[in-house]
Amino acid sequence: MKKITILFSLLLVISIAFAQKKSVINIDKAFESAAKQYTNMLATHPDLTKFPQSTKKNGEIDNRTSEWWCSGFFGGSLWYLYEFTGEDKWKVAADKWTTALDKEKHNTRTHDLGFMLYCPYGNGYRLTQNTAYIEPMLTGANSLATRFNPKYGLIKSWDKHADCEYPVIIDNMMNLEFLFWAAKQAKDKKLYDIAITHADNTIKHHFRKDYSSYHVVCYLPGTKVFRKKTHQGAADSSAWARGQAWAVYGYTMMYRETKNKKYLNQAEGIAKFIINHPNLPKDKIPYWDFDAPNLPNEERDASAGAIFASAFLELSGYSKKNKDLYFTTAEQMLTSLASPAYTANVNENNNFILKHSVGHKPGNSEINTPIVYADYYYLEALLRYKKLTK
Ligand code: GLY
Repeated sequence: MKKITILFSLLLVISIAFAQKKSVINIDKAFESAAKQYTNMLATHPDLTKFPQSTKKNGEIDNRTSEWWCSGFFGGSLWYLYEFTGEDKWKVAADKWTTALDKEKHNTRTHDLGFMLYCPYGNGYRLTQNTAYIEPMLTGANSLATRFNPKYGLIKSWDKHADCEYPVIIDNMMNLEFLFWAAKQAKDKKLYDIAITHADNTIKHHFRKDYSSYHVVCYLPGTKVFRKKTHQGAADSSAWARGQAWAVYGYTMMYRETKNKKYLNQAEGIAKFIINHPNLPKDKIPYWDFDAPNLPNEERDASAGAIFASAFLELSGYSKKNKDLYFTTAEQMLTSLASPAYTANVNENNNFILKHSVGHKPGNSEINTPIVYADYYYLEALLRYKKLTK
C-alpha cells in the first residue's frame, strides 16, 4: 500500500513538472539586479518619512510623504524581495517601511488605502503571519469604507475634481482587494458588499462597448452618470494605458474572490481589447495611452506593462479558452521589461529597477521616468511567473 502511495505521489510530481512551462526569463538575474538597486535605495533612504517615488525633471530622486497614494509600494517591493530571497535583511527593511505607514490607517481623505496599506501590510502578513499587521489593515479598510455612499453605490475617489460632484476613477478597482481581505478577516459582510456593489456599478458605467474604460466617471445620486472623462489620459474618449491595466487586474481579482463568471467575462473582454489592439507595440509594452496623439512618437508606460503582465498571469489560471494567449503575452511583456531596454543598469536610474514609465502626461508630470509602482508590479509578476514555470 505504502509503495503504491509513493508511486502515485511521484507520478503526480512528474506530471505537474511536465505540465509546467519552461521559463524563458532569467528570474534569478532579474531579482539579483532588483536586489542591488533596492540595497542602494535603502542606503540612500535613512528617513522613514521620505518614500521613494520617481525621478524629477532635474534628474534628482523625488520622494513623497506617507499620505501620497504610492507610499505603500516601496515596502511592498521589499516584501517581494524577501519572498524571493528568503533573506532576513529584506524582512527587517520591509517591516520598517510597512509600519512607517501606520498613521495612514486613519486617513479617510483618500480612496487609495488599498495601495497604501494592503500592498505592504498585506504582503507582510501573508509572508510572516505577524498578527501586529492585522489591526492597521482592519482600521484602514474601515477608513476606506467611509468613502462608500449607498446613494451612489460607489466609493468616492477624490474629494474634489473639477465640476464632478462624485468622481470615481477606474483605478479604484484596485482598492477592493483590501476590502475582501478585511471582510474575511473580520467576518464583516458589509465590507464584502461594498466591494461587490462598487465593482458592479463600475461594470455598468465605466466601460465602452469594446471593453475599453473611461478614466473618470462623474456621478449624481442614484448612480446617475453626469459625465465621463479623463484625467491622466490623452482624451475623454481615449484608452489611457494604466487605466486599462487597473481594470483588467481589478476584474481578475474580482473573479478570484467571488468565482462569479461575470467578472471573468469582464476581465477577458478587457484583455482582448488590449492584446488585439493595433497600437500595442511589438515588445508588448504599451504607449502611455492607446490613442496618444503622436503615435508612434509617444512614451511607453512600463508601469502599465508590469500591471498587465501580473494580471494576465493570474488570468491565465482562470481562462479556459485563452490560457496560453494570456501566459504568452505576459511572458513577452516580462521579457521586454527584464531586458536592458527597460531594466536599469545597477547604480543608475536613482536606484529604481525599471525605466520608462509615465505618471501623468497631460499634467506634465512623471513623463518617461522610473516610478515606484512599476517596480512593485514587475516583481509581483516575476514571482507569479516563477510559480507557473520551471
Ligand atoms: N492612481 C493613479 C495612477 O494610476 O496614476
